[in-house]
Amino acid sequence: MIRIENISKEFTTQKEAFSAVKNVSIHIKKGDIFGIIGLSGAGKSTLVRCINRLEEPSNGHIYIDGQDITACTDTQLREMRKKIGMIFQHFHLLNRRTVEENIAFPLEISNIRHKDERITELLHLVELEDKRNSYPSQLSGGQKQRVGIARALANKPSVLLCDEATSALDPKTTKSILELLKKINRELGVTMIVITHEMEVIKQICNKVAVMEGGSVVEQGSVIEVFTNPSHPVTKQFVQSVSHDLPKSFITQNTNQKLVRISYQSERVDKPLLSKAIRKFDVDANILLGGIDHLNNHIIGNLIVEFSGEKENIQGAIHYLEENNVICERIEYNE
Ligand SMILES: Nc1ncnc2c1ncn2[C@@H]1O[C@H](COP(=O)(O)OP(=O)(O)O)[C@@H](O)[C@H]1O
Ligand SMILES: [Mg+2]
Repeated sequence: MIRIENISKEFTTQKEAFSAVKNVSIHIKKGDIFGIIGLSGAGKSTLVRCINRLEEPSNGHIYIDGQDITACTDTQLREMRKKIGMIFQHFHLLNRRTVEENIAFPLEISNIRHKDERITELLHLVELEDKRNSYPSQLSGGQKQRVGIARALANKPSVLLCDEATSALDPKTTKSILELLKKINRELGVTMIVITHEMEVIKQICNKVAVMEGGSVVEQGSVIEVFTNPSHPVTKQFVQSVSHDLPKSFITQNTNQKLVRISYQSERVDKPLLSKAIRKFDVDANILLGGIDHLNNHIIGNLIVEFSGEKENIQGAIHYLEENNVICERIEYNE
């Protein structure tokens, strides 16, 4: 549905050229909620603004339903943009207009008939029927973002770009906005690109994710894959930000003990691999820390386990787990 092919963006300031996005390729399927995560300055906003050409890419192509948006004329671009809604961290509402008038704005531009009915429909969708005549200053952050969402969906786009849409909101409001986005994806089939610096957002609604650092995509895949087996240090950092970690002072290790972070994912709960490993290799396993998450109908386990027993037996148990697709990462504390 959206194919980003080798997109680069350079900004030229008076003195020098700066590459904000470097040769990024991402394929997004219809119905995906595709997350792009990275620290501030990673190039996420610049990349996503290339999709609707709020930013002109320096190189590369972006195909939306097969049509190359980077090659569009102005008239074609105006039509293409109706297919792409966008919401922002700071909502970008018109303060002198009421909720209704804000939502009406894109409808006026595209000369839609039966405007009032469409506005009523949209207000119902975002659950703001009672705020129709309020001004933005009379709304909470979450309500403002709901207006932003209604406005973005006014022209029935097939794609919604969300640039840090929940970053200005408290956790509870964040959750309700993410649930609304999920509902819109599910019920209206709107494909979404969700930019964030928070792994929690990815975890809650995305099915795919790309990790950006310094303008490049350093890792991408299904959220489950990336979550259970992050390979790039930045990804590991993000994944750890939503899992708990063990205080180092807690740990005493000797040669008959081995500390291992084990991660697994499964669609079923009927494989007691850890207890099998313990019995088969005659080791003890002490679960020091653990979390089981549920993601897109998968079970994701992240545990820190202290194995004790004969060195070879511990190795054997770890190998056994690895053979059964459990990811084992030995934790070494040298200090
Ligand atoms: N219009 C611009 N001119 C010059 N540099 C810019 C411009 N927009 C963004 N940048 C730079 O590009 C980099 C990426 O920015 P941005 O895409 O906003 O990152 P993110 O959204 O991941 O925080 C930053 O270093 C930023 O300073
Ligand atoms: Mg940004």
